[in-house]
Amino acid sequence: MKPVLSLARRLPGLDMGALAEAFELREPAPGGGRAALLALLGDARVVILSYLDRVDQAFLDAAPRLRHVASYGVGVNHIDVAACHRRGVLVTNTPGVLTDATADHAMALLLAAARRVSEGDRVVRAGAWTRVDPAFLLGTHVTGKVLGLVGFGRIGQAVARRAAGFELRILYAGPREVELAGARRVPLEVLLAESDFVSLHVPLTAATENLLSRERIALMRRGAVLVNTARGEVVDDEALADALEAGRIAAAGLDVFRDEPNVPARFLRLPNVVLTPHLGSGSAETRAAMARLVVEDVLRVARGEPPQHPV
Ligand code: DGY
Repeated sequence: MKPVLSLARRLPGLDMGALAEAFELREPAPGGGRAALLALLGDARVVILSYLDRVDQAFLDAAPRLRHVASYGVGVNHIDVAACHRRGVLVTNTPGVLTDATADHAMALLLAAARRVSEGDRVVRAGAWTRVDPAFLLGTHVTGKVLGLVGFGRIGQAVARRAAGFELRILYAGPREVELAGARRVPLEVLLAESDFVSLHVPLTAATENLLSRERIALMRRGAVLVNTARGEVVDDEALADALEAGRIAAAGLDVFRDEPNVPARFLRLPNVVLTPHLGSGSAETRAAMARLVVEDVLRVARGEPPQHPV
């Protein structure tokens, strides 16, 4: 009998044929939510899931035969990795392949927020562009300014490389020194005080939850722009909305939220916020590469080989 593999949800690009050769596949009924997923875990040996599926004690209790949690994505804040390891459950993820797409998206949000692209689009569509006025919708100049990268791992460094094309000077805050031409490591507080643009690239952990607290947001330069493609929980939403409303922070580009797909109502009302629905890794090529890594590791482990991307 083949071992059982449960899919927490439909994920694009998975080679279902290859999985079906090695496993008996189970999928929850559409719209069944978490209860339907838990009900599916009783005899699952492997689960493929995404950042939207929480692997906690209840999940593990529902899956007594589980040996492998394969996560479609790089962040693992949704998984209690220590609890998995205590139970002998392997966790794998898909690092590396979404670096470029996420860095591209961070730059897209930076440019869109600074240069008021979404506002301009809305004005034009609403038929409200009725006369040519050189003072209309002036944004923040980008080229030659200071970009502060909070977190300087793979994605932060990829953003820095792109920013070189805009002659941006790079400050970064991170746990270690990284050799990258022109990038200067500074304490977070200095970064916030000196950057025209701040982009977040930290994983969500106990140490980074609420990292951009009200006090730290208050340190940001007047007229700065904030970009978040990391996790919503890293930012104090209310404090950010206050700063945006008061115009102290000129604009924000937000791709991630605490309670996705719910977006705080205050952000929806603010014209100076560019919102995207967690699209950091959302290029067709990147999602296909993520799917490939997931399936490769699932099949490797099934064959008794070590995974390429254990967490
Ligand atoms: C990740 O991989 O962590 C992304 O946020 C999900 O696309």
